[in-house]
Amino acid sequence: MNTPLDESLKIVSRDYFNALEHAQTAEQLEEIRLKYLSRNGTIAHLMGQLKDLPPQEKSTFGPLLNNFKNKAVEAFEAKRFHIINQEILKKQQAHSSFDVTAYKAQPYGTLHPYTQTIEEIENIFISMGFEIADGPEIETDVINFEALNIPADHPARDMHDTFWLDVPGMLLRTHTSTVQVHSMMQKRPPLAVIATGRCYRHEATDASHDIMFMQCEGLFIDKNVSISQLLGTTTTFLQAIFKKNDIKTRFRPGFFPFVEPGIEIDMSCPFCTSGCSTCKKTRWIEICGSGLIHPHVLRSCGIDPDHYSGFAFGFGLTRLVMLKYGIYDIRLLHSAHLDFLRQF
Ligand code: PHE
Repeated sequence: MNTPLDESLKIVSRDYFNALEHAQTAEQLEEIRLKYLSRNGTIAHLMGQLKDLPPQEKSTFGPLLNNFKNKAVEAFEAKRFHIINQEILKKQQAHSSFDVTAYKAQPYGTLHPYTQTIEEIENIFISMGFEIADGPEIETDVINFEALNIPADHPARDMHDTFWLDVPGMLLRTHTSTVQVHSMMQKRPPLAVIATGRCYRHEATDASHDIMFMQCEGLFIDKNVSISQLLGTTTTFLQAIFKKNDIKTRFRPGFFPFVEPGIEIDMSCPFCTSGCSTCKKTRWIEICGSGLIHPHVLRSCGIDPDHYSGFAFGFGLTRLVMLKYGIYDIRLLHSAHLDFLRQF
């Protein structure tokens, strides 16, 4: 026989488990605890009524109530454990700096136009049998000038607007021709090297001049090296780097103390056939200084000019990058502006 207390226990039990199932936060759980399990809660209230029951009812309702109480506490603890775990996980995710999914959202970076061009240059020259060489940016007067046939008081020094360091005789290299000297001092012919790197000159900065710029230097020394090999090497390189087989070159006399004869190389404009703003309507672009290595230079580096000859060339890598990518202001190249860099 069901007593009114049995009935109310059923309702309490149904409501309790229902509330527990839907609880999602620690606050909701606490409300349930206060309402049902606390000292003034429903279960304590029902327990309080036990003592007033006739013995018969007490013996049947007592175990039912106890059973419900044990199950209620057990279910409450399980739910509490679940909710605490959920909340800790949520907090962890919100504060964690390690989120593997975040990487998917990152935009990919690209290589700087300098890096892309240097890779291309090196690949072209490696395919022609050249080796990659390197040298320091802080140099001595001897390597930057003396060994290249530019002694103290030589007027050619004026063109170099040198940054001298506080240490006497030390400077920031003004050209990559220093790598010629290092290579010739370290290795014996036949020698074919190419070097790219930063150079420094104390110049007023504008759209086409910066105190730091990059050059690329090439050097070839062997027996009976001729100007026609210089022409062939530089023309092949220019056609490959601008990806145009019809690029032509022309030689003009030029003066560089470390080569004799000194030669300026112009290339036909890769961007037009009848004159444009890049070639200043001349159809030719001045691109490279070059020549046959001066016998003094070979001798000062320990190579016998009676047995060996060689050619050297040097061009503005910065200028080449600007031409190749249509960059009109050198300062953009060194600016690290993301809007600029994202275009490449
Ligand atoms: N070093 C020269 C310059 O900076 C370029 C050059 C290199 C000229 C090699 C001749 C041979 O202008």
